[in-house]
Amino acid sequence: IMAKLVSPSMLSANFLNLENDIKMVNDSEADWFHLDVMDGMYVPNISFGLPIVKQINKIAKKPLDVHLMIAQPERYIKDFKAAGADILTIHYEASTHLHRSIQAIKAEGMKAGVAINPHTNVTLLEDVLKDIDMVLIMSVNPGFGGQKFIEQSIHKIKRLRMEIESSGAQTMIQVDGGVDNTNAATLYDAGADCLVAGSYVFKANDPQEAISLLKKA
Ligand code: DX5
Ligand code: ZN
Repeated sequence: IMAKLVSPSMLSANFLNLENDIKMVNDSEADWFHLDVMDGMYVPNISFGLPIVKQINKIAKKPLDVHLMIAQPERYIKDFKAAGADILTIHYEASTHLHRSIQAIKAEGMKAGVAINPHTNVTLLEDVLKDIDMVLIMSVNPGFGGQKFIEQSIHKIKRLRMEIESSGAQTMIQVDGGVDNTNAATLYDAGADCLVAGSYVFKANDPQEAISLLKKA
């Protein structure tokens, strides 16, 4: 089942007035809040962690889509559940016992997502596809907002969509990195269900209009 969801990445929000940007997303056509957690180990940048997720959860009126870019993410599954995560996405490359980590996320009552870096082939997820709710295809190298979309990602989306259809899995496909109104339609057409956008939304003069354009793409 394909959807057209939009999950604005709060990494590009104004952290001096986060409440304002959360309310903007609440009142927009966006579906989820995308929260990027980085540890300075798995990726070369540090963003924010549990206390910020917990605060956002107090006023967010939409599901929290938490993207963990941290080493050994299985250490923090219970903590992110307690902080309010609804969807918890961990990286294929960061979790040695991925199957166990997926089961642990689901046992906490969250939706389980697995993210893959630009160099990671989608077929590597074949044996967990039916266990997970979402695959996040990174269309930039994780760690920073505002990077250029990697074109090869479109091929990966198409290939994964075919694999999902032929296996009868219900897995959603999320795309994250360099998404804007120039590539959104192509990404949905290729088989994406959910687009993450950070700089495109928050650098726009009218962020709610930018979200609306992605929804209508
Ligand atoms: C990058 C993060 C993304 C980032 C996207 O590592 O996972 O969610 O915020 O930012 P843009 O949309 O600016 O590429
Ligand atoms: Zn992300």
